[in-house]
Amino acid sequence: MLRQGLLFLSESSAARRLITGTPLTRGLSRRFVAGETVDELVDAVRAANAEGLTATANYLGESVKSEEAARAAADRYVEVLERIRRDGLDANVSLKFTQMGQNISDTFLRANLGRVLEQAQAGGIFVRFDMESSDYTDRTLSAFRTLWSEGVRDIGVVLQSYLRRTQADVERMVDLGARVRLCKGAYAEPERLAYQDREEVRASFVRAMEVLLSRGHYPGIATHDDAMIRATLEYANREGIGADRFEFQMLHGVRRDLQQQLVAQGWRVRVYIPFGEAWYPYLMRRLAERPANVVFLAGSVLKESPLGSLFGNHGRDGR
Ligand code: FDA
Repeated sequence: MLRQGLLFLSESSAARRLITGTPLTRGLSRRFVAGETVDELVDAVRAANAEGLTATANYLGESVKSEEAARAAADRYVEVLERIRRDGLDANVSLKFTQMGQNISDTFLRANLGRVLEQAQAGGIFVRFDMESSDYTDRTLSAFRTLWSEGVRDIGVVLQSYLRRTQADVERMVDLGARVRLCKGAYAEPERLAYQDREEVRASFVRAMEVLLSRGHYPGIATHDDAMIRATLEYANREGIGADRFEFQMLHGVRRDLQQQLVAQGWRVRVYIPFGEAWYPYLMRRLAERPANVVFLAGSVLKESPLGSLFGNHGRDGR
């Protein structure tokens, strides 16, 4: 219920104005986001690399409606790719088709994305296309297949285990030869399309993980769920699948203990590191995953809003 509410708020512009306006929430976003600039991103990637983690850099932004904004996002990715190459960082990038202009037109998307892909290929850097809500699943996979059929390689997709269709998509992507990141899925989806029960989502994750580990192409197993990590390790050990055949992926700011533990045991771990100004929907999805964070968020919004005075907030300096 709370999860659905937070995911609803992630798309509300009134809630965005209220929540992004409070310094404390901006502080909370810092737990999950490296900062707003490319330099801050680079610092976070370096810190991850120094701890034995690889990284995937994400410039925050989605559902972009103007050509200007989509071009600016592509420019930022070109800059990030150049920094990864020049600074010798162990990182690739993750981006969203709707950030590159998928809602403007296919022709615009292709041209805008083309600049990013050219830069990535010049530096030998892999590009992952994040998966958005189910409104975009078909369009995302079809745009991916078009690129693949044009001979573009070093690109990969994301599949979400909460979607009922995912086992079939896993088989299709394995047959194509594409790299898949497997995650549970972060959006509010109807029962018709997605499992709602936590154990069903987990069972679907395990089924997809086994196919990807056995027959896939260097899959990314993206989860912080101890049960999913245990299932992956057990399957890999049982089937003799070595640490070089797949990687775990986790989010910046989430379960650092687990990230370190897996690295210490010799497994590969990539951290997804977002940066940029458009952190609101990303933060709300992270809160929806762990409602305990909401208590802190609610407290900070209340203190900073006019309502706060009704509840004993007499100004930030405590008067
Ligand atoms: P689960 O939500 O059960 O969490 C397991 C445990 O991890 C929790 O008990 C808690 O300890 C910790 N945890 C998880 N989330 C936390 C949080 N936000 N704050 C604090 N602790 C937290 N989704 C999508 O739809 N499209 C995509 O492209 C991607 N991409 C992606 C990349 C990477 C690298 C990761 C790790 C995840 C994604 N996701 C995603 C998000 C994914 O779908 C899912 O919402 C989250 O990973 C949470 O699911 P878990 O499997 O971690 O399990």
